[in-house]
Amino acid sequence: KGDIMRVGYLQFDTVFGEVAHNLDLITARLEEAEADLLVLPELCASGYQFVSQEEVFRLAEPVPDGATTKRLVEIAARRGMTIVAGLPERDGRHCFNSAVVVGPRGFIGCYRKTHLFFEETLWFTPGDSGFHVWDIGMAKVGVMICFDWYYPESARTLALQGADIIAHPSNLVLPHCPDSMVTRCLENRVFSVTANRIGSEARGGKDRLTFIGMSEVVSPRGRILHRAPRETEDLTIVEIDPAEARIKALNDYNDLLRDRRPALYGD
Ligand code: ACM
Repeated sequence: KGDIMRVGYLQFDTVFGEVAHNLDLITARLEEAEADLLVLPELCASGYQFVSQEEVFRLAEPVPDGATTKRLVEIAARRGMTIVAGLPERDGRHCFNSAVVVGPRGFIGCYRKTHLFFEETLWFTPGDSGFHVWDIGMAKVGVMICFDWYYPESARTLALQGADIIAHPSNLVLPHCPDSMVTRCLENRVFSVTANRIGSEARGGKDRLTFIGMSEVVSPRGRILHRAPRETEDLTIVEIDPAEARIKALNDYNDLLRDRRPALYGD
């Protein structure tokens, strides 16, 4: 048995393009949060539904020197927590749909979304960072972003790297992810924290995207420890024992990762 760890998410409604407003909201809410790991949604301070490449360039930020990462570093230091949060990252001519990991001692790392969804493919370069797990002391935390859930390889890759917890910033519009994360956690014996947003965007005459809320924390045994409502803001923090994710034996005969047969899986 290990140490109890407080993990959770902030589910809220991002106002498109109003980065300062969104960062102020995040700052105010996290002043109330007593957590060791706090996950924020995908593109949490920029908004989601871009209508031009120019707009993406304008809202994308360098990492770790941009305004969003700097603000998150400040909050993490003041509140003594690790934060995982999505933002549009600009690197030269490329924009990535990224998530940063920041802790009480500063910037830790950045993950660039591997599997881009729908019109994201117009604006963003497919992530080239690969999947990473960061040891934050109390636990090993892996990061994937939203639609990465649709590819079980994402969570599996993080589990094979030793993740205890998958931090999953999201802007979900399709209904299946919250239930599917139960399976992702079961088949990898990991915790997950999915932070989704609420509200909707219908910019530039595009079809309205309605974000489904239902942020959640799921256990390695597939138990939903908490699931947020669909339409209301929610800051939830639950206590977990990350050591539960390190017990990969399913019974006396089966060990989850040891019993894989990669030679038979092809590429
Ligand atoms: C998504 O990947 N934002 C659905």
